[in-house]
Amino acid sequence: MNILLLGSGGREHAFAWKIVQSDDCENLYVAPGNAGTASIATNIPLGITDFPGIKSFILEKDIHLVVVGPEEPLVKGIVDYLQNHPETALIPIVGPSEMGARLEGSKDFSKRFMQRNNIPTAAYETFTAAELSEGLAYLEKQKLPIVLKADGLAAGKGVLICLSLEEAKSSLKEMLLDQKFGEASSKVVIEEFLTGIELSVFVATDGKSYKILPEAKDYKRIGEGDTGLNTGGMGAVSPVVFADAAFMKKVEEKVVKPTVDGLRKEGIPYKGFLFIGLMNTAGEPHVIEYNVRMGDPETEAVLPRISSDFLHLLNGIGTGNLASHELEIASHYATTVVMVSGGYPESYEKGFAISLPSEVTDSVIFHAGTSKNERDELVNQGGRVLAITGLGPDLSSALANAYATVNQISWNKANYRSDIGKDILKLIS
Ligand code: AMP
Ligand code: GLY
Repeated sequence: MNILLLGSGGREHAFAWKIVQSDDCENLYVAPGNAGTASIATNIPLGITDFPGIKSFILEKDIHLVVVGPEEPLVKGIVDYLQNHPETALIPIVGPSEMGARLEGSKDFSKRFMQRNNIPTAAYETFTAAELSEGLAYLEKQKLPIVLKADGLAAGKGVLICLSLEEAKSSLKEMLLDQKFGEASSKVVIEEFLTGIELSVFVATDGKSYKILPEAKDYKRIGEGDTGLNTGGMGAVSPVVFADAAFMKKVEEKVVKPTVDGLRKEGIPYKGFLFIGLMNTAGEPHVIEYNVRMGDPETEAVLPRISSDFLHLLNGIGTGNLASHELEIASHYATTVVMVSGGYPESYEKGFAISLPSEVTDSVIFHAGTSKNERDELVNQGGRVLAITGLGPDLSSALANAYATVNQISWNKANYRSDIGKDILKLIS
């Protein structure tokens, strides 16, 4: 098969790494990719939202399967675009329709979807600028803390957890009247604060059947002990000890099944991944959010635990034959430590040469924001630069393997968290 993968992060390097392990992979192209994908596949200088360019490339290279990594092209309707053109209409794509992508693209849409389908989630109301006074009155009646969410995509920054009523009221005004998050906060979801432990659940679906992939926990804040600014993700571990069989059964019955059934019943085409952010509140799952793609860096911990052919899984999603795919999951642990440019998630300097070990033990180096400079040296090009996954029979050995590799990598001002997985180690000791 000739495959086109869209994206350029650690998630896409992990996808590429797994796809090229399949005997059925003839040519893998990644648009635009990074220095890691360039080492195992062919990078193509095409933007992920250049739909006409992507369509021409698919026809030129006789692509059999398109895999969409990030949410932006999905929310902008790449699947509908390709399916509405007769030349590309029949090419299988891994990624939901524009309508399905609204589960991530609009918090209000996803909350209404959950309500209609009886999927457990926090109580909420949605307000627009014209409804500001109703929104302020609603806030008066809620318990604290209270959660304010920009309706649209806001690069992971659109969620505010407000500890006081004053803070909540002024934030609501800033979001609705001053467009604090631009167009994304022209509607705001006000939501009950959930307590508990967070978990990321990943589901592959072809719109009819589904497979539940290994779960993961991610580490969102920049600082040790979950302090400081939010990032795209500083680390991940899989499996997650508190996601035991009894809890995962509840997740499947109360969340996964009604979600896939709901999409089908409502006529929303969905062939792709669903990433369900959950809160485990006293043993009961509550959906915090849906994403319509895999997580990053969770993918770098989840994919190394899949022992069956990943290209078969992707093709099953895209062609609607997922039910016939046998998903196999390995019992080992995978833990990912993200190395970032110093200063990230605020401003940082790019272009420092990165020194990597020539060989690593029980670990995999995934690239995210890397590129090659004019002297063919590997340099940091983005905020999140590398994702190092350690493997092992238990959590502590997987972490030790990840950090042993991290310690052999350096560039000017590189930063990472040294406490990934420590909270879980404490929980099980
Ligand atoms: P989101 O962008 O929806 O993933 O939200 C970002 C983070 O805010 C989540 O990962 C949670 O840690 C937190 N969060 C979102 N909604 C809630 C909620 N209703 N209760 C508690 N924490 C929340
Ligand atoms: N790591 C969280 C995300 O991919 O959204």
